[in-house]
Amino acid sequence: MEKLSIEDMAVFCKRKGFAYPNSEIYGGISGFWDFGHLGVELKNNIKREWWKFHVNDREDIVGMDGSIITHPRVWEASGHVESFEDVMLTCSKCKERIRADHFIEDKLKISVEGLDSKEIDKLVNKNKLKCPKCGSSFEDIKDFNLMFKTNVGPREDKTSVSYLRPETAQLIFVDFKLVVENARLKLPFGIAQIGKAFRNEISPRDFLFRSREFEQMEIEYFVHPDQTDKCPYVKEVMSKELNFYTEEMQQKNKKPIRMKVKDALNKKLVSEWHAYWLATEQKWFTDLGANPDNFRIRQHLKKEKSHYALDTWDLEYNFPFGWKELQGFSNRTDFDLKQHIKFSGKDLSIFDEETKKKIVPHVVAEPSLGVERAFLVFMFDAYTYDKKRGNVVLRLHPRLAPMTVAVFPLVSNKPQIVKKAKEVRDGLKKYFNVFYDQGGSIGRRYARQDEIGTTLCITVDFDSVEGSDVTIRERDTTKQVRVKIKDICHKIWEYMEGAQFEKLGKKIR
Ligand code: GAP
Repeated sequence: MEKLSIEDMAVFCKRKGFAYPNSEIYGGISGFWDFGHLGVELKNNIKREWWKFHVNDREDIVGMDGSIITHPRVWEASGHVESFEDVMLTCSKCKERIRADHFIEDKLKISVEGLDSKEIDKLVNKNKLKCPKCGSSFEDIKDFNLMFKTNVGPREDKTSVSYLRPETAQLIFVDFKLVVENARLKLPFGIAQIGKAFRNEISPRDFLFRSREFEQMEIEYFVHPDQTDKCPYVKEVMSKELNFYTEEMQQKNKKPIRMKVKDALNKKLVSEWHAYWLATEQKWFTDLGANPDNFRIRQHLKKEKSHYALDTWDLEYNFPFGWKELQGFSNRTDFDLKQHIKFSGKDLSIFDEETKKKIVPHVVAEPSLGVERAFLVFMFDAYTYDKKRGNVVLRLHPRLAPMTVAVFPLVSNKPQIVKKAKEVRDGLKKYFNVFYDQGGSIGRRYARQDEIGTTLCITVDFDSVEGSDVTIRERDTTKQVRVKIKDICHKIWEYMEGAQFEKLGKKIR
């Protein structure tokens, strides 16, 4: 099947209640999106799975939740006030403002990642590029800071200026000492956070991919400064295969190469810590149903690295508009902690029991993922049009699906069947997201649930009233089994934990 375009995905998401343009009744506002009744469930499931995998299931990572607005000095220390910028072009006639790098990449089909405003200006003049809206030349090229400014308190002058956070990461550095002491953390360890981030993107685009308000799921992973090259967990990922695209391959115009982590480490293509985190994060996606063929890992070119990064890799996904960053992994060294020590005058070092010395730990890799980009990945890899059924089947992993179960009375005009179906629904509701539907033919009701990814459908019929069992249908295969009502709950648990559908009960189709 041809890949769905991002525009088609936006239409599908709106039609089914996953995501809508924000404030559409007022004409909308570019770069802001709202999530509907199914979108919010999928988003919550993604965040819950991420938190469980990265925080609850591990001994070495704890969570925190910082505020969105923080002291403005935080952003001076982090370098965001000075360097968190994109180059912007302004049209001399219609005053349209556009993000220069994306515009040039679209027009000239070359990568301009990391070029400064002077180099971009040269390219614009050399290629006689004009405003895409009115065809006039550009009057102005300048750096545009992406942080949203606001005023804190009743005074609206520069003494009260603060910013909506452009990344959640800085709160982890600012609260570092407290979290380490409270949670009695020992190196190596991580601190994780999920929360909103805001960027005044010059040209937000591609639906949820690049928006002005989004959520991040980030980990700052800290290690001893003398142990930045040894990862104690690397054995866990040695046999994992990844699609490597190093800086050298890009410079020599070579194609990415699929290889085992152990071979990449032998060839010194990647550090142990990067290999561990990249493989672990790809596994998180694929364990939740994403297609491994749609992933590759790409090392940043020197000129595209952020001001704080020693080495950065991206986990990229093959979106319908090309391979793009899904998740970033920067080696931020001790840059952030040292900057906050300098700017705040506070001691953020920790005591190393072994050497009896104070040390400032290094962040060897910072897995940083946008919830909305993960949302798109799971939606694209789940979306299938089933010709035989004549409808879309959204094959979301059972732990991600907005609705786990739908319950239908076979017919809506028999009170004893409707009553039984509602009893079944109420029994399941305590444990799962349940959708109840008694409108239309059974076929139509199945199709509606397939389209929103509901994992299992339960039909209550005449025999259910007399014999106390129901039919359960599996979304992905349409197979059906008969299960006792008293057993449904734990059978669904077994299924969510990976049990084979046919083993849940007596097969009927
Ligand atoms: N703390 C590091 C950091 O923020 P980043 O590469 O700028 O690094 C991390 O952002 C992740 O946040 C990206 O990989 C992407 O998943 C998500 N992200 C960044 N900008 C975004 C935007 N405008 N809209 C949606 N997601 C975005």
